[in-house]
Amino acid sequence: MTLPPEDRALLEAARQARRFSYAPYSRYAVSAAVRTASGRVFTGVNIENAAYPNGVCAERVAIFKAVSEGERRFETLVLVTENGGTPCGACRQVMAEFSLDMRVLIVDAQGRLHQEITVRDLLPGAFTADDLQT
Ligand code: THU
Repeated sequence: MTLPPEDRALLEAARQARRFSYAPYSRYAVSAAVRTASGRVFTGVNIENAAYPNGVCAERVAIFKAVSEGERRFETLVLVTENGGTPCGACRQVMAEFSLDMRVLIVDAQGRLHQEITVRDLLPGAFTADDLQT
């Protein structure tokens, strides 16, 4: 796998963050790192809860951290799971809210790239702000 240096740095940030995953129930550790259009990097991990539905995915933590610090445009997100699992539907919708053109790199715990795909292709026909124009 040959990734450009910027993507390798993002992958490394995501891999480093994975140790902070809080997943005592599923034991499925997930981490993400997102790079904004302005070049900042935010990481996130899945955070579970004894009241199961209150858990949140790594991708949304990373994106919400960024949005809460003034960022709304994203270039690339690296997702790291044990086996290269793909983003859930809720995370796809949150990604679509901000950047349909964002690249998503899906990587496993060994650092193998499983997929590179845009949000537009992850969630065809996404419901967006345009749909609210009635
Ligand atoms: N998970 C994520 O963090 N991102 C995804 O896109 C898929 C699922 C988390 C949620 C839960 O903590 C665990 O993985 C098992 O579903």
